[in-house]
Amino acid sequence: MKGVVLAGGLGTRLYPLTKITNKHLLPVYDRPMIYYPIQMLVEAGITDIMIVTGGNGAGEFLRLLGNGRDFGLKRIHYTYQEGEGGIADALGLAEEFVEGDKVVVVLGDNLLERGIRSGVESFRRQQRGARIFLKEVEHPWEYGIAQLEGERITGVIEKPREDVGRLAVIGVYMYPADVFDVVRGLKPSARGELEITDVNNHYIERGEMEYEIVEGWWVDAGENHGALLRANIMAARLGGEGVSLE
Ligand code: DAU
Repeated sequence: MKGVVLAGGLGTRLYPLTKITNKHLLPVYDRPMIYYPIQMLVEAGITDIMIVTGGNGAGEFLRLLGNGRDFGLKRIHYTYQEGEGGIADALGLAEEFVEGDKVVVVLGDNLLERGIRSGVESFRRQQRGARIFLKEVEHPWEYGIAQLEGERITGVIEKPREDVGRLAVIGVYMYPADVFDVVRGLKPSARGELEITDVNNHYIERGEMEYEIVEGWWVDAGENHGALLRANIMAARLGGEGVSLE
């Protein structure tokens, strides 16, 4: 199984912090943001990892991460996304790296209290299709929101304007090898991006999507400045033995 961390995009919602610095290099407590998704993959037993960078300071990732020694890795693979074509566009760049394997995709600004180890184990056992993770949120209009009928998932609505529920699709996606065919078939959305939500809806329509509700906290640190602050506090509480926030 391969791991892909998406760290492109311009991160404009965190301006002016991201005017010069790539969002994923900003500090979250005691380390750069991108350390968290990489660590999460490694802890789940995924050591074959590609980082998709882009935007500001793309070269700095190599300087920071090198071959991944901080994570006990032998090497890290890198690729570069020109422009900001969307999450699915960034994923598409990893096709040759993934090479017919299953792939776990993590957005570079997502932090999870309990990691993804158990989700990855379930996905290893999963015979076919994709797997996503849901969490109830306060601001549903900021996310892709899952539509459920009973236990069955019927669709995902990206950044809904109306009240369609509160179960957000978090930034961890698990796909079978044919995801790259799905990406190739996508058309840009109204905001000009290839949307990961369209990929997920494709698997849902085929009846090949499993989901889990996430236990513990989840933060999309790139959502806004408040979320970045929350990510810092959560990470400090989690990892900072003896750190006082009072
Ligand atoms: O965090 C969960 C949410 O992430 C989901 O609920 C949404 O369905 C999904 O669309 C996404 O929404 P965001 O608005 O948070 O996506 P954002 O544009 O912030 O991009 C998230 C990460 O994806 C970002 O940290 C880097 C990567 N990315 C994004 C874009 C647009 C790229 O690598 N390239 C890109 O072109």
